[in-house]
Amino acid sequence: MARDLAIDLGTANTLVYARGKGIIFNEPTVIAVNARTRDVLAVGEQAWAMIGRTPGHIVAERPLRQGAISDFDITEKMLRLLLQRCGVSRLSRPRVLICVPSAITAVERRAVREAARLAGASAAYLIEQPLAAAIGAGLAIHEPMGSMVVDVGGGTSESAVVSLGGLVALRALRCGGFDVDAAIQSYVRREYGLAIGERTAEEIKLAIGSAAPVADEVKAEVRGRELLTGMPKTVVLSPEEVRQAAEDQVTQIVRAAVDCLGDAAPDLAQDILWHGIHLVGGGALLRGLGARLADETAVPVHLVSTPLECVVLGAGRCLDSFDTLQSLFLEDD
Ligand SMILES: Nc1ncnc2c1ncn2[C@@H]1O[C@H](COP(=O)(O)OP(=O)(O)OP(=O)(O)O)[C@@H](O)[C@H]1O
Ligand SMILES: [Mg+2]
Repeated sequence: MARDLAIDLGTANTLVYARGKGIIFNEPTVIAVNARTRDVLAVGEQAWAMIGRTPGHIVAERPLRQGAISDFDITEKMLRLLLQRCGVSRLSRPRVLICVPSAITAVERRAVREAARLAGASAAYLIEQPLAAAIGAGLAIHEPMGSMVVDVGGGTSESAVVSLGGLVALRALRCGGFDVDAAIQSYVRREYGLAIGERTAEEIKLAIGSAAPVADEVKAEVRGRELLTGMPKTVVLSPEEVRQAAEDQVTQIVRAAVDCLGDAAPDLAQDILWHGIHLVGGGALLRGLGARLADETAVPVHLVSTPLECVVLGAGRCLDSFDTLQSLFLEDD
């Protein structure tokens, strides 16, 4: 019998959990596409590996830039390759549970389900990411008690209050780690006349980025191309500069969390004050973000132990208790 699979198709990273096995796939959400035929040739690390070693018309793309599935064809092909790599064949068609942004429209929901079925799933179920994140964080989501998760991903940030197995308050933002990278990129361009790539901007963020001052701050050397001359050039960036570059994005993310908390009924807000906010997603690893969030919400913030895996682990737990937790899945439209 085919193993049930849970899939977190994130804008930055794709993870697959197989029932009884755990996480079997954890790679960047990148596809290699033939620019002439629009065929999807590879996903994840294999897609990166193809670039530069293949004819010029093969390009790498991040198909889900803002968390939304915009191109049905590409999504279906991507899922097909993904399921193939996870051992799905015509003889073994698993049930698939896909984690989707809670802001997804009915049309998009239908498209994802349809794409999964065409790609080889025997049945496709959807669960809202914040709910999966709350389960992954080990929160008591079935209790008549408020829990709050803030998921900062690559292209989206979602703040949600959960009670009795449902979302009772939600703020979804199309802003995440990628937008922080882009802000760093444009800061360096504006202040130093230096062009740097997306990946360099992300490296700067990982090395010295922060949302609030932290201990032991160091500067970082950045290599890029000077816009005026086209020549390579190196500049030194301070953590304060990087913080300033990302300030808009950080403010938006924190503000959405504050607003979400404000939407929760007073009793639920009391529960959250007591149990704290759980911070998940790769963006949660930005230094000082938890402190900043705690400061502005006046609620304690806990960074979960595995922020990048939290959503898929939560969905995986739903597979493990499929019959009892099926009520959490989104209804068929
Ligand atoms: N140590 C770190 N500090 C800051 N940011 C980090 C760190 N590690 C990862 N990130 C960022 O986390 C983001 C990816 O997070 P994650 O994998 O949770 O996103 P995703 O689930 O694919 O996206 P989304 O949920 O928006 O669809 C990237 O922007 C990455 O730069
Ligand atoms: Mg995510």
